[in-house]
Amino acid sequence: MPHLVAPSLLSANFLNLEKDIEMVNRSQADWFHLDVMDGVFVPNISFGLPIIEKIKKATIKPFDVHLMIIDPDRFVERFRKAGADIISVHAEACTHLHRSVYLIKNTGAKAGVVLNPHSPVSLLTEIINDTDMVLLMSVNPGFGGQKFIENTYAKVRDLKELILKKNSSATIEIDGGIDLNNAPLLVNEGVDILVAGNTVFASSNPEETIRLLKNF
Ligand code: DX5
Ligand code: ZN
Repeated sequence: MPHLVAPSLLSANFLNLEKDIEMVNRSQADWFHLDVMDGVFVPNISFGLPIIEKIKKATIKPFDVHLMIIDPDRFVERFRKAGADIISVHAEACTHLHRSVYLIKNTGAKAGVVLNPHSPVSLLTEIINDTDMVLLMSVNPGFGGQKFIENTYAKVRDLKELILKKNSSATIEIDGGIDLNNAPLLVNEGVDILVAGNTVFASSNPEETIRLLKNF
């Protein structure tokens, strides 16, 4: 499939969110990427259910909800009700990851498993046939605008190998420090979905930047 682009609203202008949502609606972006942080799993707090519910009313594009929270099982159902189409949980934040994945799938949402930069792809061996997506963090989660970690290329290769070996249908998403230079290289390695925050919202023409991320 052609790769997808999911702008992260973390870098949007929250004083005028409607304008940025309309821009994403008009653009070639495929999904909205929504970063939920609890201030415990990551050293930052972002936004949660009420904001996601509101944004859902302003768009028909799918919601890719990235939960950076401890023990996300407690909230899966409520994020689904708020409008999440894909719900991703960190392997590092789930004691019973298999249970978390099926909790998500049973709500009707697609399930994603996220790995922090230090977590090896081998952690996914026994879950790769259950998860719909793997999200590889290419920065340490918590903030937008950080520098891309170069080791991610090798991880994408390892993950692609695992997916092929296990005959899994999981897609690969990358999040953190994605720009117009590394995006084509990552897609070339097998990445299916590119998340981009700062590159989109800090650019002088965000809609055009999304077009550039989508077409190469
Ligand atoms: C980081 C978040 C990302 C973030 C990406 O913790 O998961 O989605 O918004 O931002 P950029 O693209 O600016 O690195
Ligand atoms: Zn994210």
